Amino acid sequence: MTIEATHDPVMTTAPPAGGAVHPLWVRITHWVNALAMVLMITSGWEIYNASPLFEFVFPREITLGGWLAGALLWHFAAMWLLVVNGLVYVALGLATGRFRRKLVPIRPAEVLADAKAAFTGRLAHDDLSVYNAVQKLLYLGVILAGIVIVLSGLAIWKPIQMQELAALFGGYDAARYVHFLAMAAIVGFIVIHVIMAFVVPRSLRAMITGR
Ligand code: HEM
Ligand code: HEM
Repeated sequence: MTIEATHDPVMTTAPPAGGAVHPLWVRITHWVNALAMVLMITSGWEIYNASPLFEFVFPREITLGGWLAGALLWHFAAMWLLVVNGLVYVALGLATGRFRRKLVPIRPAEVLADAKAAFTGRLAHDDLSVYNAVQKLLYLGVILAGIVIVLSGLAIWKPIQMQELAALFGGYDAARYVHFLAMAAIVGFIVIHVIMAFVVPRSLRAMITGR
């Protein structure tokens, strides 16, 4: 099938409605989420430092809150921003068909081919409205990591009221590790993601201005 070979499921080549690569709701929720994530990560690191799970602590210069209580206040304040904004993004992503159009299907063979092309500098970015297979995988992956971190966060926030949720993760202690590992995955994503945004500055402009 020639359509498969170009990774171009029929509808995505048509110019997006209104000519914008990313509709306004995507751009707003994306940047609100970026802010909320930075607040959650840096306050989370300060919380971690009060009782480290591993042999290291995070340098104080890059944590938020100053001490445990301050960090918890930041964490529980920014949590609302993160969750409300995330719900809007996911609801609209599902309702408008954006997720279905842009993030699936993900075929392993295409991920390998596109990853190889990316590492050898041969990956085309000429149509910003179509994500390559590696982008799809990373974006879907980070959305799922976001869901896991919120659920595990709720489980360790209210371990009594949300007993079933905590049990789902294997209990309070396990949920804490899940929460930490999801943070590590999200931070790993952000590092690659921000580098790519500056390697392909047109994509950054499209996420800011829409074009
Ligand atoms: C609804 C969302 C969230 C809730 C309810 C929540 C709740 C919590 C709670 C209660 C703790 C304290 C755990 C303890 O006592 O050790 C915590 C720790 C932490 N959170 Fe969150 N969190 C949420 C989202 C996030 C997000 C989005 C991130 C980062 C991407 C994050 C990163 C961390 C980190 C790194 C820690 C310290 C880990 C530890 O040592 O246990 N959290 N969170
Ligand atoms: C300063 C930090 C950030 C920058 C500069 C940035 C930049 C961008 C850019 C340029 C795009 C469009 C990329 C493309 O055409 O492939 C994008 C999309 C996206 N970013 Fe970010 N981003 C940042 C933070 C984040 C964070 C913290 C997350 C989540 C944890 C995130 C998740 C996503 C997702 C899921 C998409 C796809 C959205 C969609 O098409 O619906 N970004 N970002």
